[in-house]
Amino acid sequence: MFTWLVWGLLALPLAWGQPPQMPLPKGVTADAKGYVGSNACRTCHPDVNRDFFRNAHYKGQVSSCEGCHGPGQAHIEGRGDKTKIFAFSEKSPRQTLNRCLECHTQSISRANIRRSEHTQADVVCSSCHSIHKSTTPKFLLAKKQIDLCGNCHSQVRAQFSMPFKHRVNEGVMQCSDCHNPHGTDAPTWRMGQRPRLVAQAQGNEEACLKCHVEKRGPFVFEHTAVRVDGCETCHSPHGSMNARLLKRPVTFTLCLECHNGAGNFGRQGDGIAVQSPSHNMADPRYQNCTTCHVKIHGSNGDRLFRR
Ligand code: HEC
Ligand code: HEC
Ligand code: HEC
Ligand code: HEC
Ligand code: HEC
Ligand code: HEC
Ligand code: HEC
Ligand code: HEC
Ligand code: HEC
Ligand code: HEC
Repeated sequence: MFTWLVWGLLALPLAWGQPPQMPLPKGVTADAKGYVGSNACRTCHPDVNRDFFRNAHYKGQVSSCEGCHGPGQAHIEGRGDKTKIFAFSEKSPRQTLNRCLECHTQSISRANIRRSEHTQADVVCSSCHSIHKSTTPKFLLAKKQIDLCGNCHSQVRAQFSMPFKHRVNEGVMQCSDCHNPHGTDAPTWRMGQRPRLVAQAQGNEEACLKCHVEKRGPFVFEHTAVRVDGCETCHSPHGSMNARLLKRPVTFTLCLECHNGAGNFGRQGDGIAVQSPSHNMADPRYQNCTTCHVKIHGSNGDRLFRR
């Protein structure tokens, strides 16, 4: 108790006046730009320093603390003056983004990170990555994806508990199997207006086709809805009350959203083909369209997807 009081009194003039400069520790020298090397940080930040050898940055030859935090001389001479170092806690999201992108433009600029929904909402690198306190061995994520993404997108998280779902909660799949949290290229399909960070497989295909390869085609007879509109026209990608992740509980209501004869577009200017008169909608047999049109994602043998 007594010693604390003495130290406190001694520190008073320091707090009031301009703190005296502290010389650099023995054996530490600064270059012309004020870089001192990582060894100089060790004494005052032993915890950060101790774990750093495991960091991807250390392994990737960015062994220097100053690679991210900038030159340290003034910070040390100012006895740990926070304003004299690049302290991420004091920086705007934009400044953080720019600092990380000084090195990472190569790997992620093509993904349009500056225009991504996340960047525009000020969700930047350090919202998802933790350089010093990462809990995942890979990618320095602040938390496991389901918790990381799920905390901010709780509604989406709940969809993965529905009766039919992709097994994300169970850890079989991850958000990043379908999404690129860094942003996506201007997509060439339906989502042009709103890409929703949906990742792409092989050029500009939907991510779904990485796994559901048999839906890829190309088919001799494409179902336009699959090729142009995209999988989520008929499926709820996260989870659904309906089997096969379908958007509607009964198949024919899904099909009739388009196959209703309305409109004046299409190849013949007569809209999307309405099912032929042979289809008796009062007959329950006709209500499950895919019992006959089985190759609904495309066919190599039949224009009407029946085989
Ligand atoms: C790849 C960039 C990067 C490198 C390299 C780096 N840091 Fe950091 N550092 C950060 C970021 C970002 C933060 C903000 C907190 C966070 O996201 O983990 C931070 C926070 C800190 C903090 C604040 C306390 C804390 O734990 O949050 C200290 C002190 C620090 N770094 C020291 C160091 C030292 C010492 C080294 C070298 C051993 C180093 N940093 C290397 C990016 C980096
Ligand atoms: C003489 C001791 C000392 C040395 C040497 C030192 N620091 Fe610090 N550093 C401090 C203190 C004390 C603080 C806390 C300042 C505060 O909270 O106002 C600090 C804060 C920081 C922060 C800001 C953390 C935050 O809150 O965001 C960073 C980053 C940092 N140091 C990096 C470094 C780096 C990199 C080096 C080596 C080049 C280094 N420090 C060397 C004492 C030191
Ligand atoms: C919304 C969350 C989020 C934001 C914001 C974010 N990341 Fe990521 N990042 C991730 C996830 C998740 C992964 C792992 C991807 C995977 O599993 O394939 C990752 C992977 C990475 C990787 C390694 C794999 C790769 O794609 O090259 C790097 C490097 C990276 N991020 C850097 C950054 C930088 C730099 C920023 C800021 C400019 C940033 N990230 C912003 C979530 C994010
Ligand atoms: C001085 C250059 C530099 C800066 C600044 C930098 N990085 Fe890196 N980063 C690297 C290098 C080099 C690697 C290792 C590359 C590799 O393994 O492919 C790396 C790897 C990563 C990885 C991948 C980890 C893994 O397990 O694959 C992530 C995530 C990452 N950095 C995030 C960040 C974030 C967030 C920032 C800003 C706080 C940042 N980096 C700042 C150079 C840098
Ligand atoms: C810090 C909170 C936060 C974290 C962490 C986060 N997000 Fe986001 N995310 C947002 C905000 C805010 C937006 C933009 C506003 C909106 O549309 O919800 C957004 C937008 C999105 C969008 C586009 C939504 C749309 O309607 O266009 C997707 C997809 C997305 N996030 C997925 C992810 C994934 C995957 C992860 C984990 C790797 C993640 N997010 C982590 C906050 C977060
Ligand atoms: C099976 C692939 C897949 C997985 C896994 C997935 N998503 Fe999605 N997500 C999509 C698709 C496709 C869309 C676009 C849906 C649309 O436009 O109708 C989407 C849309 C979104 C949206 C915007 C629309 C909405 O429903 O709010 C957010 C936010 C989002 N996803 C977050 C996440 C998060 C967080 C995770 C992980 C917990 C995740 N997604 C996992 C495929 C997936
Ligand atoms: C990482 C691989 C992967 C990706 C990417 C993926 N899926 Fe799946 N999908 C699966 C697996 C595995 C199953 C099996 C169900 C399970 O895991 O319980 C499945 C099941 C399904 C089912 C239900 C099948 C059934 O028989 O009930 C549909 C429909 C589906 N996925 C559509 C999609 C759509 C649409 C996308 C893109 C938005 C997509 N998937 C992306 C792996 C994937
Ligand atoms: C026009 C609506 C529609 C579109 C678009 C669509 N599907 Fe389907 N899909 C269905 C219907 C209907 C079923 C159920 C078939 C059944 O019950 O026999 C189904 C079943 C599935 C199944 C499970 C059964 C099987 O055939 O393996 C998977 C997986 C699947 N779809 C993936 C996809 C993927 C991936 C895409 C995008 C490339 C996609 N679907 C686009 C209507 C569609
Ligand atoms: C998003 C709109 C959409 C949905 C939903 C949809 N289709 Fe289609 N379908 C089309 C379009 C567009 C064509 C091509 C029509 C043309 O070129 O005239 C087509 C073509 C067809 C054809 C071939 C017709 C022909 O004359 O070549 C059949 C059969 C068919 N669809 C059945 C179905 C069934 C069964 C469902 C429900 C599982 C369904 N469609 C759902 C848009 C849709
Ligand atoms: C019992 C089997 C069967 C069922 C169930 C069935 N169809 Fe068909 N569908 C056919 C046959 C066979 C044809 C070829 C034309 C014909 O014989 O009438 C056809 C033709 C079509 C065509 C092309 C019409 C044209 O003139 O090019 C469309 C579109 C279509 N069906 C949609 C649907 C939709 C939507 C459903 C569900 C409401 C459905 N079918 C249910 C057997 C079936």
